[in-house]
Amino acid sequence: MTSTRSRYLHGTDPREQKRLARLNTLINRASLRELALGGGERILEVGSGLGQFARDMARAVAPGGRVLGIERSREQIAGAVRAARAAGETGLVEWRRGDALDLPLRRGERGRFDLAHARFLLEHVPDPLRVVRGMVRAVRPGGRIVLEDDDHDVIRLWPEPAGFAPLWNAYMRSFKSLGNDPAVGRRLVALLHEAGARPRRNTWIFFGSCSGAPDFPAYVENAAGLLRGARRAIVEEGLLPARSFDAAIVALDAWKKRPDAAFWFAIAWAEGVRPPREEGKTSKPLKGRRV
Ligand SMILES: C[S@@+](CC[C@H](N)C(=O)[O-])C[C@H]1O[C@@H](n2cnc3c(N)ncnc32)[C@H](O)[C@@H]1O
Repeated sequence: MTSTRSRYLHGTDPREQKRLARLNTLINRASLRELALGGGERILEVGSGLGQFARDMARAVAPGGRVLGIERSREQIAGAVRAARAAGETGLVEWRRGDALDLPLRRGERGRFDLAHARFLLEHVPDPLRVVRGMVRAVRPGGRIVLEDDDHDVIRLWPEPAGFAPLWNAYMRSFKSLGNDPAVGRRLVALLHEAGARPRRNTWIFFGSCSGAPDFPAYVENAAGLLRGARRAIVEEGLLPARSFDAAIVALDAWKKRPDAAFWFAIAWAEGVRPPREEGKTSKPLKGRRV
């Protein structure tokens, strides 16, 4: 498997980069809380994107800690460097270009991290197990692997805007067209197990709001931005006609002004530990289950 097989649906145009940055402001505090960093950890951040969360972790483990961000896209690395500079945090995180499917770690780095973390990455790779195996190998025995990802099936909007269900369905199928899994969130514990880690925690991070809450427009705008960004993939693949797509987006825009609108979503979150050396053989997959 080579890096060229991994295809990123959202791309890196400026509008999408703004969406990703805003998404970070909505979720980073909760992600950081769940990680419960103690300080001083060496952290590997896989698929580091624009790097806001890598910098949040780096601040939390300073002094003495270290964060290495691995990211495949040149544009995202450039964006991460720019954002760090603008925040006066140049040098806080080390950025390295590379593929999560074949982690570009140097001699002496593999097996030394205290934590390997990936968020919103496994949904964009055709072989998430390969990524998680690499993360398990990257941490020391006893080190943690934390995965956060989407199970797009869990979304609820009420009262449901016209055309939203077929639109979201088409969006999920656009992941499949790229060879990726839109419901990978439900598989996180199984992936940890099969990759040789010992799963030990499974939870959700609530990602929702309702009309009247100050952050509500930002949640709806994040969903609308994801959908707009995937319009071409959805329409060109014939997953939804362009006019249905556009009508559903207009309905979503109108919906967000309703006084009774509610939006629920949740990010799957799972943690495993690399077993001590004597137990460290990769676990056998459970028969008959897709992992
Ligand atoms: C949705 S963004 C999430 C970024 C960051 N983890 C966050 O939570 O803000 C997914 C990132 O994974 C990167 N990515 C996708 N496939 C990758 C791969 N095979 N190796 C490394 N990075 C990859 C994309 O370029 C993008 O920056």
